[in-house]
Amino acid sequence: MNKSIEINTATLDDIPEITSLFRDTIIHINKKHYSEKQISVWASGADDIEKWEERLTKLYFIIAKIEHTIVGFAYLKNGNYLDGLFVHKNYQRQGIGSKLLRIIESQVMMNDFEVLKSDVSKTALPFFDNKYFEVLKKQNKISKGVSFENYLVEKEF
Ligand SMILES: CC(C)(COP(=O)(O)OP(=O)(O)OC[C@H]1O[C@@H](n2cnc3c(N)ncnc32)[C@H](O)[C@@H]1OP(=O)(O)O)[C@@H](O)C(=O)NCCC(=O)NCCS
Repeated sequence: MNKSIEINTATLDDIPEITSLFRDTIIHINKKHYSEKQISVWASGADDIEKWEERLTKLYFIIAKIEHTIVGFAYLKNGNYLDGLFVHKNYQRQGIGSKLLRIIESQVMMNDFEVLKSDVSKTALPFFDNKYFEVLKKQNKISKGVSFENYLVEKEF
């Protein structure tokens, strides 16, 4: 059910909407797979505005919009590492993640890489499985003293 989803490069003006989306998606969607403590540490990443400014200015950072609302975003680090992919809590399972990933994959190919890597949440694993990513390992990442279980995945083109 693809409504009209528009993909654009993000600008600094998008930061408030991007950070709200990030926080709300973690609180409402990722909460199914992570503890209250993990969710609160993860969601607090929304408050580090300097970091978001750096991501927006230095990385390949795209947003998906439906009728002027940002409904998802994704960003690529070092040409072939997907560092973030989030879809608005009210727009899950509508093909937005797929569309963002398709654009990210074409960018990786344009950057002349043959593999796309990411560290993905337990919540997102079925999505990446559906997109033919291979799980290389299950791992624990420590952030602000809290351990998070995630998966190193990759897809070869
Ligand atoms: C992972 C995420 C980005 C997927 O975005 P989305 O727009 O909901 O994904 P799509 O609608 O394009 O899904 C495509 C396919 O992936 C699979 N899929 C996606 N989410 C799934 C889920 N929760 N359970 C099972 N399969 C799922 C399905 O096969 C789906 O196709 P279908 O809906 O026709 O069955 C989104 O769920 C999200 O924001 N998750 C929370 C943030 C997160 O953990 N991001 C990962 C970075 S750490």
